Order: sequence, then structure tokens, then C-alpha cells
Amino acid sequence: MFKTIEWTSDGVRMIDQTLLPGEEIYRTYRTYPEVAEAIRSMVIRGAPAIGVAAAMGVALGVKNSRAKNVAELRSEFETIADTISKTRPTAVNLFWAVKRMRAKFEDALAGAGLEAGKIDRAKTLLEDEAQRVLAEDITVNEAMGRHGAALLKDSSTVLTHCNAGALATGGYGTALGVVRAAVEEGKKVSVFADETRPFLQGARLTAWELAKDGIPVTVITDNMAGHFMKQSKIQAVIVGADRIAANGDVANKIGTYTVAVLASENKIPFYVAAPLSTIDLELASGDEIPIEERSPEEVTHWRGIQTAPENVSARHPAFDVTPSRYVTAIITECGIARNPYTESLKALFEEQGEQQTSANAVR
Ligand code: MRU
Repeated sequence: MFKTIEWTSDGVRMIDQTLLPGEEIYRTYRTYPEVAEAIRSMVIRGAPAIGVAAAMGVALGVKNSRAKNVAELRSEFETIADTISKTRPTAVNLFWAVKRMRAKFEDALAGAGLEAGKIDRAKTLLEDEAQRVLAEDITVNEAMGRHGAALLKDSSTVLTHCNAGALATGGYGTALGVVRAAVEEGKKVSVFADETRPFLQGARLTAWELAKDGIPVTVITDNMAGHFMKQSKIQAVIVGADRIAANGDVANKIGTYTVAVLASENKIPFYVAAPLSTIDLELASGDEIPIEERSPEEVTHWRGIQTAPENVSARHPAFDVTPSRYVTAIITECGIARNPYTESLKALFEEQGEQQTSANAVR
């Protein structure tokens, strides 16, 4: 099985997702600006995977620091956090991860002791924390899968958009994690993968990882989804998310909104699978979610080949927002939320708090 991302003594190792499915190449990034560039250029992508990469980027930056005192290290930390935070604006997991690493950094520097000892402690604690972010992400996805699998019927076909699988996370996947869990329970589930213009995460990545797992997958172009829904070939839609607002509005890969409206028209349940780290309770609605605008060249060209006339204008919003009224349920590691989301999402965070309190009591 492939590893999307891992921490090694040489640096952060990632599978280069820009080259899949043609080539399975792993690259090691040895500095934090290199990790930032890997996120920006989508060598690694998908909200939870971006979160893991951000945590590892911060840990790598601190590990490589030559700061001679705590004040110097603090100032370097700000530069590192700022560089990582400016890579991609929509996936809230990135900011969640930087915040978590900052808290660990402050813990390491707090208390008594010599400055050199504090610096060493910060390096070790951040390295451990980044690896914990990765390990927890996989556990969270497995839990999400168990909750979500109950929603899928035997012998059903699920439509997904973009890639919300092992490649988009530390492993196992969110939307594809639900499919994997249902298959592990013995259900026959097959997947229709929207190709997902313009970066083709569906055709290139979802199809690649499902085929590797032996889960039946059929690639369709984005504009075929309505046709197959109308023909009753699709029983459920499951997608991931980059950010979910407090009212349940969901930002996900451009085209998700269209799929949600089509699902509603055809009375097909539309599920979103995402960890609590993707839910941003600070934003009241999806209108406040920043939408990344990527280069128009990713629309007018494919791997250097021009597919639109020269000098014609193009737009490339990378995400759209699906209003919560189209979302049948949000599947998380702590359970399933349904409308009214303002209450149900808050309740899941409370549940998570209680779980953490009892886990700490056991330790
Ligand atoms: O631009 P990308 O490939 O990073 O967009 C990814 C998505 O939109 C995914 O659906 C989302 O991050 C969820 S991944 C589990």
C-alpha cells in the first residue's frame, strides 16, 4: 500500500500526486519552504492531508532552526507559520494544524530551564506532535468510516466528486473511507468517480486508489452525473469537504454544488464525510469561507497542452459552497450530524470534548 505522507529522518516524504496515475514517485522535502511549495503546487492535496503536511512543515522548520536563543526561535516560528499558512486558503485543516503546532511550541517553551534545553524540547515535541497528527488522522477516518458505512445499502453505487480518499488524508480517506468500511463489512458497493475538472482528482486519483483496493470504480465526466442519477444508477452521493461552516454549509471541490442540486432533484441522499478538524464553528455560514482562485492556465491548459484559444480569459475558483439544505447528513468521527446543523455540529464537538476528558482520565 502507498503512503501519502510520512515523516522520515531526511525530511517529509510524499507521493507526488501531480504525476499519478502515470508515475508513482515519492519525493522527500527537506525544508519548510519546500513543504509549502509542495502544498501550493498540489503534490499533496485534500484538506486532511494538507493539515498533516502543514504540521510536518512546521516541525521541519523548527527542527532545522539554528536559533541560538528562544527569542530568535520565536521569530523564526512566526515566519514558518506564516509561510505555511499562505499556501492554500480554503482547507481549514491547514490553519487547524498550524494552531495545534503553535500550542505545542508554547508548551515546550513554557516553564523553567535553560534556553538551549527549551529549544531542544521544542524540536522534539513538535516532531512528535506532527507524527501524532498523521496517526490520529488515520484513526479518525476509520471511525468516520464505521459511522458512515451504516448509511450505505448493500449492492449500491455511490457517486463521489474529487478525491476524498487515502491520497487526500493521512490514509483510509473520508468519503472513500466510508466506502472502504462498507466493503469491509461485506457490502457490495461500487463507485462512480466524477473526473473533476480541471485537475482531474477523480479520474486520476480516486480511480487509481480504488482500483488498487479492488473496489469497482467507473470514471464519468462531470457533466454525466445528472444523466446517471436520472437513470437510477446512483443510490447515494458522498463527498469530502475543505471547510464546513457552523450552519452546515460545505465548501468542497468546484462542481460539488452542482452535484448536490442534482442529487436533491433526483431524491438521492447527499452525504459529506469530514473530520471535526474540517468544521469551522467560527464562521456562521458558507458565505464567509475564503474560496481559492487558482491560475486560469490550469483551465486553459492540460500539462502544457493548450485546450482553449490563446488570450481568451478563463476563471478558476477551486471550490464552491453547497448550502446545508442540500446536505442530508455530515459524517464525522464522533457521529452523524443532520439538520439543524447549528445545533448538531456543536453537539458533536461537545461529544469530542467528553471523549477526550474520559480518555485523559484513563491515562
Ligand atoms: O484542490 P484539492 O484537490 O486539495 O481539493 C480537495 C477536495 O476538494 C476534497 O474533496 C476535500 O479536501 C476533502 S479530502 C478528504
